[in-house]
Amino acid sequence: MANTFPIRRAGPADSEVITRVHAASWRTTYQGLVEDAFLDEFFDRGLDDRIAARRSQRHDDLTWVAVTPANHVVGYLQTGPTRDLGFPEYPVELYAIYLVKGWQRLGVGRALVRPLAEAVHDSPNRGVLVWALEQNSARDFYESLCAQYLTAEPIRIGRLDFKKCAYGWTDLPGCLGLS
Ligand SMILES: CC(C)(COP(=O)(O)OP(=O)(O)OC[C@H]1O[C@@H](n2cnc3c(N)ncnc32)[C@H](O)[C@@H]1OP(=O)(O)O)[C@@H](O)C(=O)NCCC(=O)NCCS
Repeated sequence: MANTFPIRRAGPADSEVITRVHAASWRTTYQGLVEDAFLDEFFDRGLDDRIAARRSQRHDDLTWVAVTPANHVVGYLQTGPTRDLGFPEYPVELYAIYLVKGWQRLGVGRALVRPLAEAVHDSPNRGVLVWALEQNSARDFYESLCAQYLTAEPIRIGRLDFKKCAYGWTDLPGCLGLS
């Protein structure tokens, strides 16, 4: 099913649904870990601002969405230039990949990574970086795609301190069997 799952480039008209998918997935992923008050503030009161911010996002970002046969967006992946200058060997960063809960573990995440792999396929440097919270089982997802653990750094979310872990692919297309 997953390999035939429709993935398409996102356009400006997808800003609202992507923001809502992000909010819903963030809540189910981080509830119990991040303070409820932070989740409420971040997503309920801040949602309109987030939709507006996404509408005006940088043009060098690339976003793909996964859609159901009925054309409902159930997940997205966003990528762009690596923000942290400390990783010159990984010029591209996977900023976000979020699926709504009911569509996880069906191969959709892997299908969403494929266009990113295709996008870096012909680059002289295929390095791709991604960050995940230490407690997030998404780390297993990245490892299942043969990403390598690089380092961890502190991060504050709301009033709590966490660690975020960096993973890197030196050859994402190769990992997906594209070369
Ligand atoms: C992480 C995420 C994008 C993965 O996408 P997905 O469609 O669920 O993953 P896939 O079905 O493509 O998984 C491929 C393989 O990755 C591994 N994997 C994926 N999610 C995993 C998880 N939560 N725990 C352990 N292994 C996982 C498995 O090996 C899986 O193969 P299997 O299902 O045959 O065992 C998705 O689960 C998600 O949106 N999670 C919540 C949001 C999130 O944490 N985003 C990442 C922020 S850093």
